[in-house]
Amino acid sequence: MGTIETELGIDLAAFWMPFSANRQFKQAPRLLVGAKDMHFIAHDGRRVLDGTAGLWCVNAGHGREKIINAVKAQLDRLDFAPTFQMGHPMAFEAARKIAALAPPGLEHVFFANSGSEAVDSALKIALAYHRARGEGQRTVLIGRERGYHGTGFGGISVGGMTNNRKTFGNLLPRVDHLRHTWDLEHQAYSRGQPEWGAHFADELESRLIPLHDASNIAAVIVEPVAGSTGGLVPPKGYLERLRAICDTHGILLIFDEVITGFGRLGKAFAADYFGVMPDLMTFAKGVTNGTVPMGGVIAHKRVYDAFMQGPEGAIELFHGYTYSGHPVAAAAASATIDVYREEGLFERAAAIAPYFEQALHALKGLPNVIDIRNLGLIGVIEVEARPGKVGARAFDAFVDCYANGLLVRPAGDTLALSPPLIVEKQHIDQMMGTLGAALKRVA
Ligand SMILES: Cc1ncc(COP(=O)(O)O)c(C=O)c1O
Repeated sequence: MGTIETELGIDLAAFWMPFSANRQFKQAPRLLVGAKDMHFIAHDGRRVLDGTAGLWCVNAGHGREKIINAVKAQLDRLDFAPTFQMGHPMAFEAARKIAALAPPGLEHVFFANSGSEAVDSALKIALAYHRARGEGQRTVLIGRERGYHGTGFGGISVGGMTNNRKTFGNLLPRVDHLRHTWDLEHQAYSRGQPEWGAHFADELESRLIPLHDASNIAAVIVEPVAGSTGGLVPPKGYLERLRAICDTHGILLIFDEVITGFGRLGKAFAADYFGVMPDLMTFAKGVTNGTVPMGGVIAHKRVYDAFMQGPEGAIELFHGYTYSGHPVAAAAASATIDVYREEGLFERAAAIAPYFEQALHALKGLPNVIDIRNLGLIGVIEVEARPGKVGARAFDAFVDCYANGLLVRPAGDTLALSPPLIVEKQHIDQMMGTLGAALKRVA
């Protein structure tokens, strides 16, 4: 095996990096070696402002002592315990706190270890729910173009990102997609929710239900705000219409809240923000502030109750992971939720969101910018692709920002900002200044 030495003396060869240009990265690595509050420390000692909460996960900022101490204490007390036909207190405690934070009726928490596992769990729960109720023919799953639901076969099947799907052949059968909700002509530079586009929900009733028949459809899964394909904010009334159509036809509505959960929009969940309640909700990332992997599904009481029948000794759902409700992750979740509540971080995000919106939209008019979108503490700049080189301009802007002390997230020809909820006005000013200068330089 070859080696690739860095200044730090670390060999980069063996780690096959996820969602990365491995060869390019290893020529010019960007290594992070420390973090505190709003900043990373780069391997050359520079402070880098974290404009992305890591990867949409470090909502309370880095290096939070309360969470770290809870993790350490849990490791000292109980490093691992199984949750198959066994239990340990912290899993129940974390589930109780998550359910208490969730909208009314969403009362039962199934634990996984990532957003991808959370999505697969939610899809399986939806299928099993209909079967438990005697409608086992409901097996069609409806996702959406430009949706991202992680990388499991379930998630890429209902997802709508071409590069994540095209290579892998055997996707789930009996899956269909709604069109995505973005329209440059009618929505460009919308602040918050676009006024135009609620009718995109209608094709569920006008096209997909007539095609598959409602009696065969198990669930519709959407991200309330599509994150990974560039912050596609739902038009006003869109989610409400999806909910109403699902209700009419007995179809479950799943919100993938892996990025919108835990305060990103200034409320605990996007469901609260929009006032639209799903039957199942996935979560991950912010649940532990990114410290320890954890994900899961919050199920409405009526979904859970449908399983709780038959003989007492029967296992109701043949699904789970060795690390479902892992004690260390559960301790991290429990402490993280305390930090969110004690510091009022969701309210804080809501309070600073208008300043963030204003500062972000001030980038309008910079070279090649064709759209700016935002909601809560999600902000996205869309730039015109270089001819024949999709994604190159945004990637160059990302590298330029990093060189100048700011981490942003490139995706296609978009650049996303999703800072920790502890962000202050001075950080927002720095982000927009650095991003603006980068956009001029990469023009
Ligand atoms: C909406 C959504 N669902 C699922 C996932 C997958 O999460 P993970 O990477 O933890 O598997 C992500 C990750 O970004 C996401 O944004």
